[in-house]
Amino acid sequence: MSSKQHAHWSSRLAFILAATGSAVGLGNIWKFPYMVGESGGAAFVLVYLLCIALIGLPILVSEWLIGRRGQSNPANAMASVAEKAGRSRNWMIVGISGILGAFLILSFYSVIGGWSLYYTLNSVTGAFSGQDADGIGALFNGMLGNPGLLLLGHSVFMLLVIGIVARGVTKGLEGAVRTLMPALGVLLAVLVGYGVTTGHFGEAVSYLFNPDWSALSGETVLAALGHAFFTLSLGMGIMMAYGSYLGEEVNLLKTARTVVIMDTVIALGAGLAIFPIVFANDLDLNSGPGLIFVTLPLAFGNMGGGMILGLLFFLLLTFAALTSAISLLEPVVEFVEERTPLSRAMSTLVAGIGAWALGIAALLSFNVWSDPVLFGLGVFDLLDKLTSKFMLPLTGLGAILFAAWRLDRQSVVDELGLSAGGASIWHLVTRYVAPIGVIVVFVSSL
Ligand code: PFF
Ligand code: NA
Repeated sequence: MSSKQHAHWSSRLAFILAATGSAVGLGNIWKFPYMVGESGGAAFVLVYLLCIALIGLPILVSEWLIGRRGQSNPANAMASVAEKAGRSRNWMIVGISGILGAFLILSFYSVIGGWSLYYTLNSVTGAFSGQDADGIGALFNGMLGNPGLLLLGHSVFMLLVIGIVARGVTKGLEGAVRTLMPALGVLLAVLVGYGVTTGHFGEAVSYLFNPDWSALSGETVLAALGHAFFTLSLGMGIMMAYGSYLGEEVNLLKTARTVVIMDTVIALGAGLAIFPIVFANDLDLNSGPGLIFVTLPLAFGNMGGGMILGLLFFLLLTFAALTSAISLLEPVVEFVEERTPLSRAMSTLVAGIGAWALGIAALLSFNVWSDPVLFGLGVFDLLDKLTSKFMLPLTGLGAILFAAWRLDRQSVVDELGLSAGGASIWHLVTRYVAPIGVIVVFVSSL
């Protein structure tokens, strides 16, 4: 272990901003809407919200709690907190699988970050202006079919991530998150306003909130659970690592509520912005990962001031993707740095280049390497499904089981500042409701 003093956040606000920066990203604006579209709408949304409240939030708090007690990278934190509580150091495996998950997610996340960069450029050149659905669709498919272009976007995005993490200027991003995140919220509100003018807003609202329960399957519920983990950056050691920079004075429950609400509002806002456009233009709900890249440009290309709004939107999306990607690279770097003789800069380079190389396999699966490699899935889908549906839930399950069953009960109650009633609810949720929820969903989908 290093003798350096472990750093701390400059303030409670700084911590909230960093955690929000990690949580709010492509998961909210790119992934959530297309998963809703693929899963049949409101039933998925409601299960997702339930997963966020009953499983995501308690796991978020558990991860912070373990990280704060461990004051180290996720693997070491799990081991040392377990040891202090008189438990096996093998709990370290939870931290390690989180770090591996972060690495795998970063590889394909960066590919989508590259799309966002390319679309920022497209807004500037006026590529969306006056286009109909076919034109916008052709632009998107042209991008997917062009490995060189995808590689360029992926590489530039990953370089930005590596550059930021290598300099350790994550702190400097606090200020940026503070202004850009609200700006993203405002822009989404403008787009929701545009959705109202399409005359299909009501249809979108009912699609998002009026459930057709017959559309629900074990598969859908597992997808909702997996996405709850993905969107809150859980099961990857990220929140554990962020918790390790946390002082005693921060109220974990209140802070978690803030982060969860912001993340959820942005995701629902994205849904409300996108689905009116989908219905107004008869677009395919099942467009998958391309959904926002075909709906929003259509709106930007056909509304007053659309060029500047489009530019702002894709810039902010790229920024939100960057702050999340940084949080994905950080624990991998921390781990490499502490486990090898490499310097921070070299560790960043090694981890970043590794994820970049894997990302190339992911982006080729959209064109020249589209044959399934395993379980009928291409590399991109495989990485996505493997992490979201399996690794994240299982790792998060490990974290919450540990916090609920292996830590001294009273010390947790004191640390969270719970009343007697609050303590009962906390124990009920973390010992039974959340873990059983994860296990049931998991088993029923197999
Ligand atoms: N939570 C981010 C999002 O919703 O885009 C993605 C992400 C970041 C996932 C960091 C996992 C993570 F550790
Ligand atoms: Na998110």
